Amino acid sequence: MNKILVTGGLGYIGSHTVVALQQEGFEVVIIDDLSNANEDVLYRIGKITGITPQFEKFDLRVKSLVERFFSENKVAGIIHFAASKAVGESMENPLLYYENNIHSLVYLLQACEKHAIRNFIFSSSCTVYGEPDSLPITEEAPVKQAVSPYGNTKQINEEILNDTCRATKLQAISLRYFNPIGAHESAEIGELPIGTPQNLVPFITQTAAGLRKELSVFGDDYPTPDGSCIRDYIHVVDLAKAHVIALQRLLNKKNASNFEIFNLGTGRGSSVLEIIKAFEKVTSKKLPYKIVDRRPGDVIAVYADTTKANSVLGWKTEKTMEEALASAWGWEKKIRGV
Ligand code: UD1
Repeated sequence: MNKILVTGGLGYIGSHTVVALQQEGFEVVIIDDLSNANEDVLYRIGKITGITPQFEKFDLRVKSLVERFFSENKVAGIIHFAASKAVGESMENPLLYYENNIHSLVYLLQACEKHAIRNFIFSSSCTVYGEPDSLPITEEAPVKQAVSPYGNTKQINEEILNDTCRATKLQAISLRYFNPIGAHESAEIGELPIGTPQNLVPFITQTAAGLRKELSVFGDDYPTPDGSCIRDYIHVVDLAKAHVIALQRLLNKKNASNFEIFNLGTGRGSSVLEIIKAFEKVTSKKLPYKIVDRRPGDVIAVYADTTKANSVLGWKTEKTMEEALASAWGWEKKIRGV
């Protein structure tokens, strides 16, 4: 029995992970409410892997539907992506974020207990570290007071998982992502934000495709070498593979404790201006941009210490930031027909 439930499996990181799981021989069932994804992705996954996964469309906030799903489907593990993820929206509507991101986890964990499902991978974020005291960031770095309700839901969810792992037979791994970018090499799946992109790379590719006039660089007066913020940009295909490895760790009972945490990043920091230059180089396109005020809530610099992920999880990134940018552009060109 190697059927794996992927919640939010039609979303950006979820869809790449479904592809990686299927390529490793896992059978996948996806739950997605299509609130921020398109059903078309299902067929695109089928096009890449030759297998169209089982798909159940419903909202995980509806407990009776969660219960019904688990009474009808037997799964060996769960990778839980389904969540609201826009920082700004969470500031305007915190209760939506607490309702969506917390209820769905609790209902899934109740189902795990009832149906003896022991293996759970959680989609967390480096946002839990806030502005770190030192770089690179290890998993031992303190979790700082969250700046946004979105970030707070990630922290609370990790606490819920930790408590549940202590009290039940659940084994969980929380994966703290740095900045996922890029798309599958087939350009069949990628990031497709609704409305104006809030994240850097989709804004860059939409600007290059002519959908946006220019990129706004949020501040060039930070205490960094070129004054712009530094992040650890990781190729989404590398990130997806880490989920398969983490799942296998649990299924093969190789985990060192019931609740483990791993940073998923490249270990290298790039500034916003470096990303722009790299994008221009790999695409041979000039990117129009202007420097504007800092964006409230942005941290100055974050990048991962990947020692634990490399040596304990046995995973490391294979793709470069340049490859990630090229693939993001390949995806944008394909969907816009440019
Ligand atoms: C943040 C969180 C991340 C979360 C994500 C959700 C941190 C360190 N990271 O990512 O965990 O999952 O939000 O959206 O808290 N930028 C511009 N112009 C733009 C857009 C972005 O200059 O139009 C800059 C930002 O100031 C930042 C960098 O690009 O320095 C990356 O921004 P973005 O892609 O939004 O990701 P984070 O804010 O790092």
